[in-house]
Amino acid sequence: MMYGKSTLMMSGQNDTLNDRRNFLRDILLTSSFPMASVLFPSSSSALFGVPAKEGPKPKIATDITGSPIYYDAFVQKHKSNERVMVQGLKGDPTYLLLSKDGVSLENFALNAECSHLGCIVPWDENQQKFICPCHGSIYDAKGSVLRGPAPSSLKLAKVTTEEETGKVLLEPWIEDDFRSGEKPWWI
Ligand code: FES
Repeated sequence: MMYGKSTLMMSGQNDTLNDRRNFLRDILLTSSFPMASVLFPSSSSALFGVPAKEGPKPKIATDITGSPIYYDAFVQKHKSNERVMVQGLKGDPTYLLLSKDGVSLENFALNAECSHLGCIVPWDENQQKFICPCHGSIYDAKGSVLRGPAPSSLKLAKVTTEEETGKVLLEPWIEDDFRSGEKPWWI
């Protein structure tokens, strides 16, 4: 059978269109669903009728054994101004901060990894500072860097509670760093 040039072009366009449709179908209906979310972050939720994400998902703070931390019990157990290491976002060592009057937690937590090379920074209760054992960086009680070589303050995380259970929740801190007024360096 003979085909004119325009017929061949249309046929080629149809093939390309079909290829694209098949490609999209394969992405959306097979094991590549997470990839679809990456490729089409705004459209995938609309396609599947899933509500759009409203921001980072909170994670339950846990103690060293992996047990959830309950706000009221935790505050009662610890004293004012104490910095207590727990497992935070992604299980990373994170300090929860008791308020000065000891009746609540601060609404921010501090990632314990030094901003220099990532050593875990202990809290020195006597000096009321975080002092890195690796190269001597010093941070104040809110994690602001006072002395290098650390280039930046300790990372912040947001602290809230799960309404129904009273469990302590952590989520990434994406707003400006209230200690410096700068954009958070960790995102
Ligand atoms: Fe903390 Fe170097 S890792 S000062």
